[in-house]
Amino acid sequence: MTTDYHSHILPNIDDGSDSVETSLKMIKMMKRQGIGTIAATPHFHAHRTDLDSFLAKRSRAYEKLMAESPVVSDVHIGAEVAIEKGISELEGLEKLCISGTRLILLEPPFTNYSDWIVEEIDDIVNSRRLLPIIAHVHRYMGLYSKSELSGLLSVDAVFQINAEAFESFGTRRFANKLIDSGRDFVFGSDAHNMGDRKPNFDLITKRVSAENIKHSDNILKSALVNEADSEFVF
Ligand SMILES: [Fe+2]
Repeated sequence: MTTDYHSHILPNIDDGSDSVETSLKMIKMMKRQGIGTIAATPHFHAHRTDLDSFLAKRSRAYEKLMAESPVVSDVHIGAEVAIEKGISELEGLEKLCISGTRLILLEPPFTNYSDWIVEEIDDIVNSRRLLPIIAHVHRYMGLYSKSELSGLLSVDAVFQINAEAFESFGTRRFANKLIDSGRDFVFGSDAHNMGDRKPNFDLITKRVSAENIKHSDNILKSALVNEADSEFVF
């Protein structure tokens, strides 16, 4: 069984699952695709939501889902944190890490590249001592120039690849190059619903070697082991 690092399975919290029923269907489908561990990563936008309200809403959504005994019980709560100016200074940022770890899923903005994006990531690493996972990094291919993309790929982080990257030639080539580059990488479905963004991790298991899937799985396993006794775990 493998790990899905990016999903919107928590009900009624963002543009992902719209009900507990949808969440359960998504989780069942994920299980059929070989997923044993799920990071539940609802969107968090600091300019839209106050952190405490988000955390309270997230706990309620998680508890509501868990009360229904989903077939995959190994669900780690986290968030997909939008990189905004000043995000590295947000009080309580560490509460958005994947539970039991210092791994935090960060989503670069879908705008033109600016230096502050990488500066925020660097500050999250150096000042907050967190381990960023850069969400669906292949999506920035069309937005950033080659050198800007190299700048993003030079941060001290783990790079997350969505299943959809393996559907088309250009992004598949990018993903394979990233995997071969020696950087740390993880996979995710970024599933939102049972319609146009349903769980599709099977695309990854078809296209990626078992060894590379194991690499992805091991990032969470080692984070959980290494950080079990750390004072920095949340
Ligand atoms: Fe997402």
